[in-house]
Parts: sequence; C-alpha cells; structure tokens
Amino acid sequence: MPLRPFAQTGMQVSPLGLGTVKFGRNQGVKYPQGFALPSDQEAANLLALAQELGINLLDTAPAYGSSEERLGQLLRGQRQRWLICSKVGEEFSEGQSQYCYTPEHIRHSVERSLQRLQTEVIDIMLLHSDGNDVANIERYGALEVLNELKQQGKLRATGISSKTVAGGLLALQQSDCAMVTLNLNQQDELAVIDYAAAHGKGILIKKALASGHLSDAYNDPVQASFELIFAQPGVSSVIIGTLNPAHLRSNVSKALTVLAAG
Ligand SMILES: NC(=O)c1ccc[n+]([C@@H]2O[C@H](COP(=O)([O-])OP(=O)(O)OC[C@H]3O[C@@H](n4cnc5c(N)ncnc54)[C@H](OP(=O)(O)O)[C@@H]3O)[C@@H](O)[C@H]2O)c1
Repeated sequence: MPLRPFAQTGMQVSPLGLGTVKFGRNQGVKYPQGFALPSDQEAANLLALAQELGINLLDTAPAYGSSEERLGQLLRGQRQRWLICSKVGEEFSEGQSQYCYTPEHIRHSVERSLQRLQTEVIDIMLLHSDGNDVANIERYGALEVLNELKQQGKLRATGISSKTVAGGLLALQQSDCAMVTLNLNQQDELAVIDYAAAHGKGILIKKALASGHLSDAYNDPVQASFELIFAQPGVSSVIIGTLNPAHLRSNVSKALTVLAAG
C-alpha cells in the first residue's frame, strides 16, 4: 500500500492499519460473534500477512487485555518495520473498564506500555475516552503530560481517541492527531476530520466497519465504508480489526481499489 504522511509528524502511515483488540481481549467487547484469542502462531501469521500487504501501522491499548504484551513479544526483531499506536486512560480488568487521567497515572501507563511493547519509543499515544473528553483534557492537563513525554523522546506523536466533537477539536489544538469513529451508521465526528484537514493534523478512523455489524443495505458494505471514508481528505489511516486472513486480504484489495478510483 502506498504510504501517506501522518500530519506533520514526519511519519508515513499505510492507508489501512491493523487493530489488535482481538489479539488480547474477548470479554466485554461488542462484536457480533464471540471468538477465541489467536494462538501466537496465528497472530504472527496475521502480522506477517499484514506486512506483506503493505500495512505498517498497529493499534493497541492497555485496555485491550494482553494485546500490548503479545505485540511486544511478536514484534521482537522487527520493531523498526512498524508504527505502533497505543493509549492511556482506560484499564480493563475482570470484565470492567476503569478510567484514570491523572498525570501520575498517564506517566505510569506510558512507562508500562514501553515495557510491555519492548520498545524505547511509542509512535502514537492517544488518550482513551470515557466520553468526557473536554473535561479530561482541561481538568487533568492530560495532553500536556503526553506532550512532555513526547519532548522526552518517549513518544513521537500525541492525540486523542475521541467520542465527542468538542473533545476531538480541543485535542487537535494541543496535539498531533485524533482517532474518530466514521462508518456507514455513524458520521457525527466529520467536523473533527475537516478540522484536521484544514490544520495539518492526523486522523485515524476506528470502527470503520461498525465493529463488524455490517449493514445489509449495501451490496458490498466494506467497499461502501471505504468509499465514504477515503472521500474525506483529512483521513490518514483506517484501523480495521480482524483475525481473519481472508478479510485482511480483501480489505486491503478493496481499499486499494477505492483509493485508485478516488
Ligand atoms: N480507541 C478506541 O476507543 C477504540 C474503540 C474501538 C476500536 N478501536 C480500534 O479500532 C480497531 C477497529 O475497531 P473495531 O475492531 O471495533 O471495529 P471494525 O474494524 O469496524 O470491525 C472489526 C470487526 O469486523 C470484522 N471484519 C473485518 N473485516 C471484515 C470483512 N472484510 N468482512 C466482514 N467482517 C469483517 C472483524 O471480524 P473478523 O475478525 O472475523 O474479520 C471484526 O469483528 C480496534 O481493533 C482498535 O484497534 C479503538
């Protein structure tokens, strides 16, 4: 896949990234079907296929169960071939999410992610959202803390995975990027994408396929999703979660078709 600039960070991202919730967590998730976590071999095969198809961006988070730790092990010897996006602010244990945005917790969480991912720098670090994006930024100075860690060389880009337009817009004024939801059912964060396009900020898309709840109103809902998303000039990369190699191949092929037509 042809790489594209990720805002003004100097990084180049593939138009599709691989989401890794399903590498590490199968409880408290909203996918249409239950699933078993992949074996190490299955996860390694999926990463090798993603790389062969030209994907260079992986998305993970402390809230995705064992995802960060597993990536740390699986990427030994190939860390430099990937860009890794992780998050701070949400913890998941015993089936429950808990949120904390204090400076102490953010610093601790970033150090723990560096250790788990077995790396000295994390390429993109986002605030995970509990829905109170503006309050979390204003009350705790959460992005200032991430930006300090960026200045210390532990992060290369900072931003938010937002759930609100106001939070996405505020975060883009203080950081490099936002991860927003955009799919055939949910388009209310388009204003954040437009702002990013106008101000040279990066945009990652989450839940592009509505977390697998694909609409039967379209002949090919994956293709229709990509047509909607890649029509937005502000979009840098679309993070799709899959454990299925055939889905990964066909997603890349459809994304390339849509990009070539655009
Ligand atoms: N920051 C946040 O708060 C947040 C929230 C949600 C997600 N994310 C990130 O965004 C990523 C993607 O979000 P998501 O996993 O919720 O949703 P998604 O990418 O919209 O959908 C993933 C689901 O779609 C299925 N799928 C993938 N390709 C398919 C295809 N070609 N045909 C049919 N089904 C297909 C996958 O199942 P198979 O495994 O069977 O392919 C999976 O269950 C996550 O992995 C995570 O990295 C972030």
